[in-house]
This record gives sequence, C-alpha cells and structure tokens, in this order.
Amino acid sequence: MMFLYPVLLSLISSGALAATCPSLPSSPQLQSITTLPDPFSWHPLQHSGRVTTLSDWQCRQSHISTLLQQLELGTKPPAPSSVTSTFSQNKLSITASNAGKTISFTATITYPSSGAGPYPAMIAYGGLSIPLPPGVATITFDNSQIAQQNDQSSRGKGLFYTLYGADHPAGAMMAWAWATSLIIDRLEATPAARINTARIGVTGCSRNGKGALVAGAFDSRIALTVPQESGTGGSGCWRLAAASEGAPQDVQTAGEIVQENVWFSAAFNTYANDVDRPPFDHHMLAGLIAPRGLVSIDNAGYQWLGPWSSLGCMGTARLIWQAMGVPDRMGYSMSTDHPHCSFPDQQRGDLFAFINRFMLGMEVNTTVQKNYAGIAFDSKPWVNWQVPTLT
Ligand SMILES: *[C@@H]1O[C@H](CO)[C@@H](O)[C@H](O)[C@H]1NC(C)=O
Repeated sequence: MMFLYPVLLSLISSGALAATCPSLPSSPQLQSITTLPDPFSWHPLQHSGRVTTLSDWQCRQSHISTLLQQLELGTKPPAPSSVTSTFSQNKLSITASNAGKTISFTATITYPSSGAGPYPAMIAYGGLSIPLPPGVATITFDNSQIAQQNDQSSRGKGLFYTLYGADHPAGAMMAWAWATSLIIDRLEATPAARINTARIGVTGCSRNGKGALVAGAFDSRIALTVPQESGTGGSGCWRLAAASEGAPQDVQTAGEIVQENVWFSAAFNTYANDVDRPPFDHHMLAGLIAPRGLVSIDNAGYQWLGPWSSLGCMGTARLIWQAMGVPDRMGYSMSTDHPHCSFPDQQRGDLFAFINRFMLGMEVNTTVQKNYAGIAFDSKPWVNWQVPTLT
C-alpha cells in the first residue's frame, strides 16, 4: 500500500489519460459525411458509442487535433532544440536553431499608457484591426515573414521553412501558430517584458483571422481567440461554403482557397474538392479552443466570406462549449455590411465583454450571440446529432 500511492500520483501527473486514450489508426478509413460531422462521435476510430465524459472529450480533442494536422493544416512542430531571446526597447528578438539552421525574428510590444504590468496582451497578426479597452498591450510580428502568403508560389517560403525545410507539411497558418507559441514561450521566460502570459489573446482579420483561429486552436495558453471576418477557411465551414456557393452567392470554396494561397497544408489539396471526406469541419477546429474563450467577429457585407456559412459553423461550434457546460465562453457577432476589416461600433460591446472577462479578469456577462444582419440559418439539415452533457 505504501508503494502504490506514489505510483498512482506519478501516473496521474504524467498524463495517465494518455493510457486510456486509444490511438487513431495511421491511415484512417474516412466516410463521406454530407452534414456537419458529429464532434462527439469517435470516427474515424472504430469505437462504439459517443463521447460522454470530459475525459473522453479531452481524448477526442487530441484526435481532432491530429486529424486537422494530418489532413488540412500540417503538423505543428514543438519548440526547436535551441531558442533564445533578448528583450530591449519593447522588442523581443527571438533566435531559433534546428538541425544546423538558425533564424531570427522580432515581436514588438506596444504597452498601455498606464499601470505597471504585467499586462494582458493581444497578439495581432498583420497589425491590430480591432479596438481594445484600456490596459491591454498589443504584440505584433511579421507573420508573413515566418511563412509567406502571396500566392501558390509562397509554398515552403519563409523563416519557418528555412528552419524545417521547404517540404515541411505545415501550411502558412500552422507556421504562424508555431511562431506564436515561441513568442509566448519567450514571454514566459522574460519577466522584464511585463506581459501576463495567462492573459494572452490572438486576433487577425480576413486571412490573418483564419490564422488567429488556428493559433488559438493549437496553443492552450491562449486565453482568448478573436478571428475577425475570417470567412471560408476560418469561421466558415467547408461543407456550408460548398452548399451556399452559386445558390446564388459567390462564396469562396475550399477548391478556390487552395488555388489562392498556401494557408493550408498541401495535404489538403486532396480534400479541397471533396469536402465531405474529412472527418471534421471548422466547428471542430473552433472546438479545440473549448473551454477557453472565443469570440468570432463577422461581417454580413461580403458574399465571398460566406456569412451564412460562418454563422452556421460557429453556431454549431458553440454546441461544444454547451456540452462542456460553458456556452457563455463562446461568443458570436455578425455585423451588418461595413468595409472589410474596419471594426464597426455595433460590435464593440460584444468584443469588449470577451476582452474584459478573459484578458482583464472582470466579471462580465459574455452571453453574446448577435446577428445584426438577421441572417437565417436552419441547423436541422446540418446537425443530425444530439449535444451530450459531458460529465
Ligand atoms: C447575460 O446576458 C444574457 C443575454 O443578454 C441574458 O439573457 C442573461 O440573463 C444574462 N445573465 C446574467 C446572469 O445576467
């Protein structure tokens, strides 16, 4: 008996969960799924029954993460063998080495005008295009330098690929997510930077909004994820974009997005014209963030973004937070028409509720489900599964 206790404790602390979480088959058999896939099924693992407990769900989330990396986004490498940083004059300069290659990049911190820190901080891909309440720092870095995003010729170009090789499977968004995690690692190790790493947010608009969603999904230290007007490939679902395209709208589809740029892994080319095949859609990408904070900021003004798809996809994602008993940690705001990436006053309160709660630690009501444009989405044809109460 004396002996068992320490063994049990060490099993728990070393992640004994892993022992009860079956591995996915290396080449899973994928079924065609014409509705939004059930996040709480085990498919493509051969397994009877559905996810019913929080610990099942943790296991299932790890499967969803693996599948998204294999089939859509490419793998996110862990921090490389050597990473160092210096901090001076608001600049965090990071040097990373791997297998004889070395790269350097810089993150710039803009501090709030008052207080002493450590401050919550919003990492803003491509610069900040949302308002922030007082007291929140902003961190920017050149994500397009980490992985280029000009067009198809950008495949394998950028500092990430200098380090890991041009044929690394990560698409540009996964490379940015990797860099974001490196920045958070170095902020944790740099108290002089005065950033509270338990209160980090990530945002970006349009293509960078898709990227913000991916960053939030693949680093559990990010307290709040704010994709802004991220459209197809972000807050939109592949299947919903395909269904709304040409009916009569001109919505960007997966087939078009992989022609436009290199945000996704080359592995996704196989599925871009066969979107019923992946065992996930973007409600499940968003669901990797649960139970952390997510607020999706969308704009009804552009058919190309697929507003109906985003509304339906994120509404379905929220069922995952609901299953976990925390639906108010996932918010949604669809504005009326306004210029792309210019933040309208209409959505300010929706956004600030989330920042106040998850970054400034205020007790505020984040039950935010706003559809100012009044778009109708009927979930019945798309969601043919019940929401469990995970215990
Ligand atoms: C939070 O806000 C929602 C939506 O406005 C409202 O229905 C709910 O009653 C509020 N909850 C609390 C505890 O005030």
